[in-house]
Amino acid sequence: MSRAKITVVGAGNVGATAAQIAASKGLGDVVLIDIVKGLPEGKALDMAQLKGVNASAGNVVGTTNWDAAADSDIVIITSGMPRKPGMSRDDLLAKNAGIVKSVTEQIVRTSPNSFIIVVCNPLDVMTYVAAKISGFEKNRVMGMAGALDSARFACFIAEDLGVDIADIRGVLMGGHGDDMVPLPRFTSVAGIPLGELMPQNRIDMHVERARKGGIEIVNLKGTSAYYAPAAGAVKMAESILHDSKTIMSCCAYCDGQYNVGGAFVGVPVMLGANGVEKIIELNLNEKELSELAVSASHVKELVSVVETML
Ligand code: NAI
Ligand code: 2OP
Repeated sequence: MSRAKITVVGAGNVGATAAQIAASKGLGDVVLIDIVKGLPEGKALDMAQLKGVNASAGNVVGTTNWDAAADSDIVIITSGMPRKPGMSRDDLLAKNAGIVKSVTEQIVRTSPNSFIIVVCNPLDVMTYVAAKISGFEKNRVMGMAGALDSARFACFIAEDLGVDIADIRGVLMGGHGDDMVPLPRFTSVAGIPLGELMPQNRIDMHVERARKGGIEIVNLKGTSAYYAPAAGAVKMAESILHDSKTIMSCCAYCDGQYNVGGAFVGVPVMLGANGVEKIIELNLNEKELSELAVSASHVKELVSVVETML
């Protein structure tokens, strides 16, 4: 089998970290693209030298030339402004829509058979932009947020219980915003339902902290998170390239599922060689469904705004 090719667009915090993680996992040949001349080249050179210290499989080519991305299997879009303290993800809409549109046009030109994983914010709307501009089948376009948000929820639970975070499996739905919907009822610790191990008031506290997990980091360090987000995007790429049939939350196109009625939002999916192979439909209760409806309608409102910009 030929080596996989992964292009990461945006050589900033998330993009460079994703390129480095993908290369160190030996996922394939990695191309790192930015518009700032010297930035992707310099970071790729640094990564080439890192291989001299910690041997790792895979090459990273840094460039501003899109031709280097030709025939990529996966393209991860991280090119976009991150937020600063005081900003919401929605404040990035106009600027990042233009960037995602132009980047997607290049993806269509260079890699018409690729899978697209969007990371830019506001995440669910930018995933819609990539899907609309590319015209790719819906299973080939998805957004990374659920991997990160459920990892955050797991992190807070693990710290509280003093258990191994690897034992925590959770599901999180909705848009990647303050109204996202963590689902404690579908969260377990080594198979034990979370509610057996923790009182409701502590669960509620961690739900709230997960919802605000992004801004907590922005307020601490002045810009957004990147280690866990980059790892989340690479995990999705890996599941597709290895046909792992991994079940995880990610932003995917929902029509009939969960009464969403035609929007990209976070849902549990199965990721494999065909991208989003299946949306897992859980039997949500009324409260969970209504929280999801609120979050999905927020995403749809922003989509109607972005429509006027495309
Ligand atoms: P950053 O500012 O460090 O990097 C962005 C890079 O994109 C810059 O190097 C910039 O030159 C480049 N860029 C801009 N326009 C471009 C274009 N047309 N073509 C190629 N490159 C271009 O930002 P960071 O921290 O890496 O964040 C990137 C995006 O990811 C932001 O929108 C941020 O909000 C989002 N994000 C999303 C997360 C999620 O869970 N979905 C988590 C963390 C960040
Ligand atoms: C995060 O959740 C800002 O979306 C980014 O860290």
